[in-house]
Amino acid sequence: MKVLVIGKGGREHAICWKFAQSPNVTEVIAAPGSDGMRSVARCVPIEEHEADDLLTFSAEENIGLVVIGPEAPLVNGLADRFTEAGIRVFGPSQKAAQVEGSKEFAKILMKKHAIPTGDYAVFTELDRAKDYVRKHGAPIVIKADGLAAGKGVVVAMTETEAFKALEDMLDSKQFGEAGARVVIEEYVAGEECSLMAFVHGETVVPMVVAQDHKRAFEGDRGPNTGGMGAYSPVPHLNEKTIAEAEEQILRRMAKAMSEEGCPFTGILYAGLMITEKGPKVIEFNARFGDPETQVVLPRLKTPLDDVIVSVLNGEEKEILWAEEACLGVVLASEGYPDGYEKGQVLDSNLLKSEEGQLFFHAGTKNTEAGWVTNGGRVGIVTSLANTLEQAKSAAYNDLARVKLDGLFYRSDIGNRAISPVTAGASSISKTK
Ligand code: AMP
Ligand code: GLY
Repeated sequence: MKVLVIGKGGREHAICWKFAQSPNVTEVIAAPGSDGMRSVARCVPIEEHEADDLLTFSAEENIGLVVIGPEAPLVNGLADRFTEAGIRVFGPSQKAAQVEGSKEFAKILMKKHAIPTGDYAVFTELDRAKDYVRKHGAPIVIKADGLAAGKGVVVAMTETEAFKALEDMLDSKQFGEAGARVVIEEYVAGEECSLMAFVHGETVVPMVVAQDHKRAFEGDRGPNTGGMGAYSPVPHLNEKTIAEAEEQILRRMAKAMSEEGCPFTGILYAGLMITEKGPKVIEFNARFGDPETQVVLPRLKTPLDDVIVSVLNGEEKEILWAEEACLGVVLASEGYPDGYEKGQVLDSNLLKSEEGQLFFHAGTKNTEAGWVTNGGRVGIVTSLANTLEQAKSAAYNDLARVKLDGLFYRSDIGNRAISPVTAGASSISKTK
């Protein structure tokens, strides 16, 4: 079977890399993919929003399975187009993708179906939103209702910060239409983690849990980013709590969506806060997490196509996971998540991988001058080893032997789970 992966980031590189190991996959194709994926996939120059071309291509190539990586094409209905054309696709319909595309939609479903999450209210008018903040006080969380590339969330520690976020969204229209409706949410304290599952209707096969590091700088400081590093497993989380999250959150949400006439197919991602009272939902995504996927898929031992096809057939087949731990450190362009320069030449040592070491490309490009940066998150240095400690040392040792001009990374990935190792990292990583 030929598979088509739509997207071009580190997540899609990891998905292609995993498919390339499957005995039943004859060819992995990425659209548009990236230079960094060429070792595991044939890349075709069709962008994720070019639905007609993607459909024609898939029909001509007799694609057996399509996986859509990013949220934007899902929210725009790309999976529906494949379904209508009779091409097997693993991704939610436009209606079901609203679970990520509208925070209010997700909240309404959660409240109706008793899925644990913080209290909230929705506003389009600044004055009324400010009144609500005054009444409830800080800390409080302000979220743009629609998609805002991971930037539409402000965890306001003071009322002033909350007012500023509301003004930016409702008055200055910083996020355009996505921020014209605002969800104000109760601040939930706890330990954060990401729990993803393969889902088709009420068939739910959970993955192993991961933890992402969303803030740009060490010690969880600085602005929110798409994610600066991740690891799996997360040993300081109680297994019973995770099992509870699988039941009360993933399965209950899948059932709720079926009952509400928008059954979900694809990867249901629950961003969770593990509180003293159990797990609560911070957000749902309708796709694989980035960079969680880059540390979860290396631990998957069952071929990825087997898992997806059996879930699509309604089977909850047990999937096998490696005992090993996986940890990935994101390498980012200086300035990310705000402005940054592209075209910085990358040290070739970065791309040499040893046993257990992987570099998943995100914003890179292969030019006559060699590999250069081409995005905010450049890639993720990932290591699979017997223990988290070993995976962490290996990833940071790998980073310590490359020159990283114009780049930075966090030196504390995994520290919440293990005691810190210094391995040459802190001198070049940036702390603000
Ligand atoms: P999101 O994009 O919704 O995942 O939010 C970005 C980050 O903001 C999350 O990873 C959390 O660290 C934080 N956050 C979001 N919602 C809440 C909440 N209700 N309480 C506390 N922190 C939150
Ligand atoms: N790493 C968070 C996300 O994929 O949304």
